[in-house]
Amino acid sequence: MNNHNKIFNNIFQQNYSHTKEAHARVNLIGEHTDYTGGYVLPCLLKYKTIVSIAKNKSSQKYNTYSEFYNENISFNDFIKSKNNQWIDYLKGCLFVFYDENKKLDNVYLNILIQSNIPIGKGISSSSALCVAILKSLDDFFNIGYTDKHIAILARKVERHYIGVSGGIMDQMVSSIGIHGKAFFLDCLTLKYELINLPNNYCFELVDSEIQRDNRNSAYNERHDQLKKAEEILKVENLGSIKIDQLNKNKFDDLLIYKRALHVVTENQRTKEAKKFLLKKDMEQFGHLMNLSHSSYSKDFEASTKDVDLLVKRSIESGALGCRLTGGGFGGFTVSLIAKKDYEQWYNNMNKYYSRDKFFKV
Ligand code: GLA
Repeated sequence: MNNHNKIFNNIFQQNYSHTKEAHARVNLIGEHTDYTGGYVLPCLLKYKTIVSIAKNKSSQKYNTYSEFYNENISFNDFIKSKNNQWIDYLKGCLFVFYDENKKLDNVYLNILIQSNIPIGKGISSSSALCVAILKSLDDFFNIGYTDKHIAILARKVERHYIGVSGGIMDQMVSSIGIHGKAFFLDCLTLKYELINLPNNYCFELVDSEIQRDNRNSAYNERHDQLKKAEEILKVENLGSIKIDQLNKNKFDDLLIYKRALHVVTENQRTKEAKKFLLKKDMEQFGHLMNLSHSSYSKDFEASTKDVDLLVKRSIESGALGCRLTGGGFGGFTVSLIAKKDYEQWYNNMNKYYSRDKFFKV
């Protein structure tokens, strides 16, 4: 992964001129709250994507090589494919970047993409990819965007080019976060705090192995249900209301109520979790993770039977807290474990899940 200059040279017969990287993230608590102006508490993972670029002087084309997919693609338009491929994220970033900088001449580039981020597991490989591409373009053209603006542009790519109704959490933490610290974000004001993670505890991901093709459509459906709840409640952001305000309204559609209930209670839990993290009270933090999962599973119905079983087994094995992380419907769970209990937790979980299903934060 780190041998980018050698690989760049092998593929494009030149040195790269600019390179940037961005990490994947795990959300510790605060799920589906970001696009309703609420709170989230993710942190960066060690897994990352590196994008290296140089001007293509020999042809009027963008040439790109993805090491992960072992695929070489050349193009000179920004037309999206029908079934969202990795190349669409690159085209989308170029499209949005040139659209923001209309005075720039279109410069053809050679682009190397390297990544060790597991794909489709709810840790936002796509945001890391967009952030790394946009940061390398920003550097190449010497624009000087802030990390926050890069995050906003990355979301524009996913929303308007790719077509996923996501919030701003992934892009913000990937662009601004620091590995080893939690990132508390108010998604309405985009104000954030970086909080140290305690040394004697660890977070660990376990792969639930479920990869569904319809994850994007299920995500978009939940998004639309929450927007409906905002309409019913006549509020701009569900994130700004409290439980009594929610319960004052009569919901004819109970399903919409349940979805909104998850978000309203999740915002409360996320704010409390931040306080416990600051106090280093990880028992209480873990308890909130468990409540969060239960709400995500029962009210938001974004979990699956296999994930619920994994969560139960993790807690029975000694985790202080465990929950499904990310957009839902499969992917990774995240467990909080006291380091002194780690071995016992791992040995027990390993009876059910093979070694390759465990990922360190
Ligand atoms: C995906 C989206 C985020 C967020 C989470 C759910 O990762 O990209 O914006 O909505 O799902 O919390």
